[in-house]
Amino acid sequence: MDFGNFYQLIAKGPLAPWLETLPAQIAAWQRESLHGHFKNWDRSVEYLPSLTPEKLDLLHSVSADSSQLTDRQRGGIEKLLRNLMPWRKGPYSLYGVNIDTEWRSDWKWERVLPHISPLAGRTVLDVGCGSGYHMWRMIGAGAHLVVGIDPMQLFLCQFEAVRKLLGGDQRAHLLPLGIEQLPELKAFDTVFSMGVLYHRRSPLDHLYQLKNQLVSGGELVLETLVIEGDDQQVLVPGERYAQMRNVYFIPTTGALKNWLEKCGFVDVRIADYSVTSTDEQRRTSWMTSESLAEFLDPNDPTKTVEGYPAPLRAVLVATKP
Ligand SMILES: C[S@@+](CC[C@H](N)C(=O)[O-])C[C@H]1O[C@@H](n2cnc3c(N)ncnc32)[C@H](O)[C@@H]1O
Repeated sequence: MDFGNFYQLIAKGPLAPWLETLPAQIAAWQRESLHGHFKNWDRSVEYLPSLTPEKLDLLHSVSADSSQLTDRQRGGIEKLLRNLMPWRKGPYSLYGVNIDTEWRSDWKWERVLPHISPLAGRTVLDVGCGSGYHMWRMIGAGAHLVVGIDPMQLFLCQFEAVRKLLGGDQRAHLLPLGIEQLPELKAFDTVFSMGVLYHRRSPLDHLYQLKNQLVSGGELVLETLVIEGDDQQVLVPGERYAQMRNVYFIPTTGALKNWLEKCGFVDVRIADYSVTSTDEQRRTSWMTSESLAEFLDPNDPTKTVEGYPAPLRAVLVATKP
């Protein structure tokens, strides 16, 4: 994995101050990634062909196709992509290979996009971007540059695999970092944090970290688990929530709005509110472990197996003054 292109890309713009810390962090990450699964995943990405699609759609889906490919080449691509399982966020349609991911991330995007400022020309940060599915949709919506951060090595490999098959597009870049490793860049026009807040032990610090990445007047798009109830209520689950170990705070939308205002955001809007269905998150041949159906009480699907309210998600949009 080579991040040199990204360094060059940001060297002369508002993200340039990042170069004071980023190369050393990436170098440390590269030293640590020499072991384990990463080598195999990296090799699968390396063996994938660099293709230039004849047909490319990032506006309505993430899909690429070309009439030049033989069935044998298609089979080879599928095998290499399956080496990168489990695929959680998608779906992708790449030269006839349909990566049917655990999540219908396109449904989330349809819930988010109508409520946010147009992305055309904007510099965007996607915190906890997973495989980068939404990053490509942000490019499809006209963003100038999209930077995703996610500490999981597998997701970087999945992103780079997709990038190779999309023609090596340099408008989106994924860095293997956690939000806590970013300096206060104050340089992004839009910052997304989707599916991350409930994983943070200190949610208000997370909101401040997001705010510190935005330009003045920039927009935060926050998507997270919520519960029903009044402005004062927050669920702090025990050891597990829907089988996940690392879930710390699940507020009501009212409480979340208060948190955002406490952190100095203005014009805070609750844009969407939806129950996660077992059609949106499910086991597929590209993610074969347990999924939402197994995380819900079989006798009462409005509850998780631990007896908490079943996953309900909200999208909030807010402005940094
Ligand atoms: C539930 S997934 C959400 C993925 C995607 N944003 C979406 O909404 O579909 C949460 C993601 O946050 C990432 N993550 C966990 N800790 C993080 C951190 N400290 N900074 C940035 N991302 C983090 C995880 O690796 C995971 O990919």
